[in-house]
Amino acid sequence: MTDSKSPYTPPLRHNWLTPAYDTAIRVLTRESAWRTALIQQINPLPDDRILDVGCGTGTLAIALNRLAPEADIIGIDPDAAALERAHAKVDSGIRSLRFLEGFLSEAALPLNWKPTKIISSLVLHQTSKTTKRQILHAMHDLLDEKGEIHIADYGFQKGLVMRALFRLTVQMLDGVADTQPNADGILPELMREAGLTVDETRTLVTPTGSISLYRATPRGLLAP
Ligand SMILES: C[S@@+](CC[C@H](N)C(=O)[O-])C[C@H]1O[C@@H](n2cnc3c(N)ncnc32)[C@H](O)[C@@H]1O
Repeated sequence: MTDSKSPYTPPLRHNWLTPAYDTAIRVLTRESAWRTALIQQINPLPDDRILDVGCGTGTLAIALNRLAPEADIIGIDPDAAALERAHAKVDSGIRSLRFLEGFLSEAALPLNWKPTKIISSLVLHQTSKTTKRQILHAMHDLLDEKGEIHIADYGFQKGLVMRALFRLTVQMLDGVADTQPNADGILPELMREAGLTVDETRTLVTPTGSISLYRATPRGLLAP
């Protein structure tokens, strides 16, 4: 549970820790390694419509906008304080990058806006199993028929060392209930259940446990 009993977990679980979020992620997760790998995997193109689910303070969406300024990018997140930080990091003249406050749903997006790529980083480990399912099903339903999903998150924690690091860091902060299913390797299973074909493309060891990268497509359309 969170400070405010809100229906979601804020970036570092407690609202008062949000100002420290970017620094904590940089220092504790080998951020440049996994984010760079994720960005390479996403490979943003000028005609992409990219939706970043749980964009938080906007780091990923902003990096993609710098690489592909013509791509239409939307970051969505329920946390107003995180979005305020995202806005503060962006030049106000940029029109191809927008941040919306809310949960993932068709109604939250501009009319007829079908993403070619749906992306998400470090969100699913902080949500209940029911919400993980809802998010993955919504991603499947909202995606353009030839679109791709790219996710980076704490996945299966292989071996005693990764499990211990994860337990002593992420689980101390975020609790066990939402995080343990990830550590037990549930994400690919839930993605398949949502009608996706999934490929775990990379696993990166960090001081807080291993972070896995996934590429998923609607079943039968696995990207090359
Ligand atoms: C650990 S932060 C990750 C932020 C960002 N994606 C990153 O890579 O730095 C998790 C974010 O997920 C958001 N979040 C929590 N529950 C969510 C939900 N059900 N749907 C969408 N976003 C959610 C939180 O507000 C928070 O900003």
